[in-house]
Amino acid sequence: MSAKIIDGKAIAQEIRENIKREVQELKEKYNIVPGLVTILVGEDPASISYVKGKQKVSQSLGFYSIEEKLPENVSENELLKLIEKYNKDPKIHGILVQLPLPKHINERKIINAIDPKKDVDGFHPINVGKMVMGEPCFLPCTPYGILVLLEKIGCPVEGAEVVVLGRSNIVGKPIANLLMQKRKFIGNATVTVCHTGTRDIVFHTKRADILIVAIGKPKFITADMIKEGAVVIDVGINRIGITPEGKAILCGDVDFENVKQKAGAITPVPGGVGPMTVTMLMKNTLESAKMWNG
Ligand code: GUN
Repeated sequence: MSAKIIDGKAIAQEIRENIKREVQELKEKYNIVPGLVTILVGEDPASISYVKGKQKVSQSLGFYSIEEKLPENVSENELLKLIEKYNKDPKIHGILVQLPLPKHINERKIINAIDPKKDVDGFHPINVGKMVMGEPCFLPCTPYGILVLLEKIGCPVEGAEVVVLGRSNIVGKPIANLLMQKRKFIGNATVTVCHTGTRDIVFHTKRADILIVAIGKPKFITADMIKEGAVVIDVGINRIGITPEGKAILCGDVDFENVKQKAGAITPVPGGVGPMTVTMLMKNTLESAKMWNG
């Protein structure tokens, strides 16, 4: 039987409609407009495309949006100064520095410089610490989006065997942590994290009720590696070519056509996790605006 295709685009759209409504209300009742600044350093095509997407959605929802583009060779100090400027700017409720940064810039130092109250990416150690402790905080956008997807499709998570491939700070570590937490909203799972040091990845992937793949390897997961009926969440966005019109050809970390024959549900790439990441960034920025101004 073929898997249910999880329509992340449609789910994201539905959430965006609600955000848009709330933005209008906030403006009418309190004259508050959520403000988001995106900071892009350099010319990485993937990063340019992600930031463009974030800007487009932010503007379509009625946010106050600022797009900062800095050259590849910008100094760490200049970037720190820019962050400080937006930390102090009362019109800005969310600061997003697109990662990765060029090698000469210390990523940790930059993330640490963002006011945790404006850290809508949820990357600051204060927010990461709160997340691990199960305290209210900004959740990182991709893991947050995955939680919402699982909730929306009614996926049973409590007691499920979840296997996460990848241990990045942005996806693997936080999603593993969130899913094992004891809480009402999508948690209480038994979580295994696989990484480059894992001896037998297939042993683990075959046991997964929910398989989350975030390793950046095109079509790495094939049907023989999963359990019949598993829910497969593909976080990979790999650029495997370019169309004659100059558009990137994308594929996930999962061999979609092959795996959908065996999975119970699966996210496509594009149109799965990606739109959710952008949407949760907007949600965090809206929540930040609401909190900032009481
Ligand atoms: N690079 C890849 N994913 C992300 C993300 O969610 N936020 C930021 N800031 N950079 C990224």
